[in-house]
Amino acid sequence: MNCRLSIKDKIHWIGVNDRETTLFENYWPLEKGVAYNSYLINDEKVAIIDTVKFNKTTEYLEKIKEIIGDKPVDYLVVNHMEPDHSGSMLALLGTYPDMKIVGNKKTFPFIEGFYGITRNYMEVVEGDIIDLGFHKLTFYMTPMVHWPETMMTYETTSKVLFSMDAFGGFGALDGGIFDDEINYEFYEDETRRYYSNIVAKYSAMVQRSLKKLAGLDIQIVAPTHGPIWRSNPGEIIGLYDKWSRYEAEKGVVIVYGSMYGNTAKMADFLARIIAENGIKDVKVFDASKTHPSYILSEIWKYKAAVIGSCAYNTKVFSSVETVLAKLSNSSLKDRYVSVFGNKSWSGGGVSGINAFVDEIGWERIGESIEATYSPKDAEFKALTELGEAIAA
Ligand code: FEO
Repeated sequence: MNCRLSIKDKIHWIGVNDRETTLFENYWPLEKGVAYNSYLINDEKVAIIDTVKFNKTTEYLEKIKEIIGDKPVDYLVVNHMEPDHSGSMLALLGTYPDMKIVGNKKTFPFIEGFYGITRNYMEVVEGDIIDLGFHKLTFYMTPMVHWPETMMTYETTSKVLFSMDAFGGFGALDGGIFDDEINYEFYEDETRRYYSNIVAKYSAMVQRSLKKLAGLDIQIVAPTHGPIWRSNPGEIIGLYDKWSRYEAEKGVVIVYGSMYGNTAKMADFLARIIAENGIKDVKVFDASKTHPSYILSEIWKYKAAVIGSCAYNTKVFSSVETVLAKLSNSSLKDRYVSVFGNKSWSGGGVSGINAFVDEIGWERIGESIEATYSPKDAEFKALTELGEAIAA
């Protein structure tokens, strides 16, 4: 990709694609890769906003050199310290030893702790301005979106918001890097998956940050992952607003764990009843086949979830347990939920999911349904009534 890629007024994208890493944070699948976006402002003073993961440092330094030649980098602005963005900081400082490292008071313990860097610190507080010549950088503290030190940088001349992870998503940038150069249907799924997997737990902080940024004239949103929004920045801001308010679309996600097919049979039967009753978006997931990353994202999208499990050693089946743990940790609110499953002797699957529902506080539709050995007429009748109630 053109490493001189200009966003506006000598603001360059110097990000990289990573299609080699299999799991983001060594957990979340990256089937479509991920981009680590970094930005360079080639003004009288040169500033870089965030860096890239360590596995891409060589390519990254070459991109910088190609744009600025022998000029030094004057400032590295650190909006966020997670190593997918700070991983090239040490190499950058080695190349540009006089470069000031700009952060807030919560940034510097991370820098020292991760990389042993204790020099060149430049602390900024909300509203401080760094004058680069034509461009001026100002800073907005947005703690816990989704780490304690997170902040955003707003360039006041070109009206670009460097928003770190906020407004970002999974997916490498396959040629197109701007919102008007891509098919956003793919990126919307990958962006919601990123939101629900990485940022969602801190939705209240996202809302607080959106209120803080509401008065800014934002013409370009430049996040650290995913496309850059220059044509319709309101779209991505609107999506993050919607997701962080737990808004959902009409639809049902059925997720189940099944050892020998009996709970699966109940899931398929229920899905058919719901579809027969007019719900077009019914998604069924075998928790043992689909990574929780995708299931979480779908439950974030749709209003109703139905969770089923066989009993396994008196507990919820392990793959379903993982989904429940992720949902609980994400702090998702305002969903409907129903419960079903199968047991052969002591049970534990359905009762375990019921305990989760009591804890998370979602509104139940219907009583839980538990078959013994395999579902029979009584359970199919109950599932029919449940499906009709869910679709109503
Ligand atoms: Fe993309 Fe929180 O790191």
